Amino acid sequence: MTDEELIAAARDAALEAYAPYSRFSVGCAIDSIDGRVVTGVNVENACYRLGVCAEQSALSAAQLAFGLQNVSRIAVAGGNVTAGSLFGEGAVTPCGGCRQAILEAAQLSGRDVEIICSSGDGRSIDRYKISTLIPHGFGPDNLKDAG
Ligand code: THU
Repeated sequence: MTDEELIAAARDAALEAYAPYSRFSVGCAIDSIDGRVVTGVNVENACYRLGVCAEQSALSAAQLAFGLQNVSRIAVAGGNVTAGSLFGEGAVTPCGGCRQAILEAAQLSGRDVEIICSSGDGRSIDRYKISTLIPHGFGPDNLKDAG
């Protein structure tokens, strides 16, 4: 799957987000090393702090479909859904918690996972490696000395 197709999958997924409180719909698409793709969306809750981000939803789907250790590339897109289409000009970068969750998959796989960040309208794209988004992070590699 090309980067453009992965972004399109994230944007399509965002249309199914449950975001009645923030009205900010996010979709995430994760590609495996052998080309399998899963998606996730943010799912908010009336108890606001219990909402789940799109990346975490997608990582859960990835674990089920092919295992976190096989995550290759991640696309994220978000904005407002109006009349069945996704809008918004700013590229969506993963929040701090999602960066930590992606780091887990990255260290398991030994790959510096690429994250493609798209605006809702798909016109603004930024690319990062997880090592850039969460430098000096704490992940499974840092637990080697645990008893
Ligand atoms: N959100 C995500 O799904 N992923 C992120 O990385 C940033 C924020 C969601 C959480 C909440 O439902 C909405 O966007 C507004 O913060």
